[in-house]
Amino acid sequence: MSWIVLSILVIFLFSFVRGDLTAALTETAKLSSQVKCHQEAATLVRLLRDSSTVPVAAASVNGVLKPVGEYSSRLDINSSGVFLKDVNYNDNGHYEFLCSGTPVRIIRLEVLVISDISASEGNTVKLPCFSVTLGEPVESVQWETKGKPVIRVKRSNQMVEYGERFKDRVSLSPDWDVLGDLSLILERAQLEDQGDYFCYVLKGSQERGDPAAGRLKVHQMHIETSTTPSNTKDSCSERRGPWWLFAIVATLVGVTCFGI
Ligand SMILES: *[C@@H]1O[C@H](CO)[C@@H](O)[C@H](O)[C@H]1NC(C)=O
Repeated sequence: MSWIVLSILVIFLFSFVRGDLTAALTETAKLSSQVKCHQEAATLVRLLRDSSTVPVAAASVNGVLKPVGEYSSRLDINSSGVFLKDVNYNDNGHYEFLCSGTPVRIIRLEVLVISDISASEGNTVKLPCFSVTLGEPVESVQWETKGKPVIRVKRSNQMVEYGERFKDRVSLSPDWDVLGDLSLILERAQLEDQGDYFCYVLKGSQERGDPAAGRLKVHQMHIETSTTPSNTKDSCSERRGPWWLFAIVATLVGVTCFGI
């Protein structure tokens, strides 16, 4: 009997406990879809590392969740969800929705600093990502762009899955799990490769850890058309020699011919 109660409890716990999400600095993070409490008052708090809490939003008189305090200017609550705007690095951490003081949803927000990386069209570029893999239950490494996979490498057998467009153009360092270097090596960079790239390690069930992000810019290769004609012109004028030499020769020839 007790195991039934236990498994129901486990299912119940897992039905709301976590939600991992990432947002880049200054972007808007959707913390949650609308949270509804049945009659009880809803609140949203921030859980800090020192176990203190900061109120983020609370239900007003009509039961609608409203941002409070310093979040008044940065929190948008509308029919599509709860949004935290202009994300800063201190927004990293856990957020908890409560119904009458009982937690119903915990969200972990991970704030990413996007580094700018540039490449020339056709060249190889490396997007950095690092994570401690030694003694960690890292199952695979995944890179994504525009919400689609770029590469996924399984640790157990080094099996590689590629996102379309990236087949045979992307790789990780062969000893990535020894070095903890999960940087993405992208070969033959194309203009369409431009965009934000996200790196994650997948540990255990669904946990995405140690994310890193890079904003790739690909520069077009120019064929320098302006130098070629000017070079030609220079060598022509050199070959032609000084104008006065021609004038003297022409005059001499003219005089000689006239004399004859
Ligand atoms: C809700 O707010 C977010 C963030 O400001 C915005 O992007 C979204 O369009 C809004 N949705 C509605 C339905 O107003």
